Amino acid sequence: MHHWKPICLLEDIPPLGSRIVQRPSGGDIAIFRNAEDEVFALHDQCAHKNGPLSQGIVHGRKVTCPLHGWHFNLETGQALAPDVGSCATFAIKVEHGQVLLAV
Ligand code: FES
Repeated sequence: MHHWKPICLLEDIPPLGSRIVQRPSGGDIAIFRNAEDEVFALHDQCAHKNGPLSQGIVHGRKVTCPLHGWHFNLETGQALAPDVGSCATFAIKVEHGQVLLAV
């Protein structure tokens, strides 16, 4: 079972942008917000060459890496064809405007 940790308020994440959560164990997590106010959590490291996905462009349920333009599904972390690879995803939800990350 997940233990949900409050991260920030939904409104603290810019629409179509992201916010970074640092983990003590290393490896930042990028929290994305799309135009529909859905949130997603991905390891902030592109599967291609470790680009900062948190600085990528969010469109729909996808993010485009700022370095070489790979696209990733925000729900699954899978790269979209023709690229192959995946980024770790983390369970996340919004309750009463509060963003909660599974730890
Ligand atoms: S590092 Fe992300 S596309 Fe190359």
